[in-house]
Amino acid sequence: MKHLIAPSVLSADFANLQRDIELINSSDADWFHVDIMDGVFVPNISFGFPVMEAIRKYATKPLDVHLMIINPDEYIERFVKAGAYMVTVHYEACTHLHKTIQTIKNAGAKACVALNPHTPVELLTDILGDLDMVLIMSVNPGFGGQHFIPHTLDKIRRLKAMSVKLNPDLLIEVDGGISLLNTADLLEAGADVLVAGSAIFSTASPAKTITAMKDVNVI
Ligand code: DX5
Ligand code: ZN
Repeated sequence: MKHLIAPSVLSADFANLQRDIELINSSDADWFHVDIMDGVFVPNISFGFPVMEAIRKYATKPLDVHLMIINPDEYIERFVKAGAYMVTVHYEACTHLHKTIQTIKNAGAKACVALNPHTPVELLTDILGDLDMVLIMSVNPGFGGQHFIPHTLDKIRRLKAMSVKLNPDLLIEVDGGISLLNTADLLEAGADVLVAGSAIFSTASPAKTITAMKDVNVI
């Protein structure tokens, strides 16, 4: 499968949100990555439903919603109603992860679990078969523009080996510090979906950067 590119709206210009959404619509990007932060699970607050609904109004590609919040169960249905195609919850925020995954699926979305940099992929062994995607955080969540943590590559390789046995359809997404410079390494390790915020929106031509990331091939 050709890898997918999911630009992170967090790095868009919120005063020109419609313009930046249309830029992604007409680019080679595959999804919109939507970061929801509650100021409790992560030390930052991003945005909530009104902005999410504004994104949905103009976006013509699936919304990949990354919930960096405690008690995600309380909000899953609202996020799906607001247009989420994929709902990602953090392993570290879910005491009853199996139940949370069922809640996402019953609401009609695809289910993904995110792992912070310190959380081993092996902890997902018994839930992997129920998931559509795993998100490996390659920075500590909370902010765009951070440096990629190199150990992530080893986690991707280990998760890929697990998925071959337990869930061959599983997608592996990586988020944080991703640019054209590490795209090939990530794909080689087994990544399917690459999230990028600052590396896309800080360039002179975000659309060209997306195309360049999309065009990277690994043998
Ligand atoms: C970080 C968010 C990321 C962020 C990535 O907590 O989950 O999606 O927007 O930004 P960059 O690509 O700038 O690291
Ligand atoms: Zn994210």
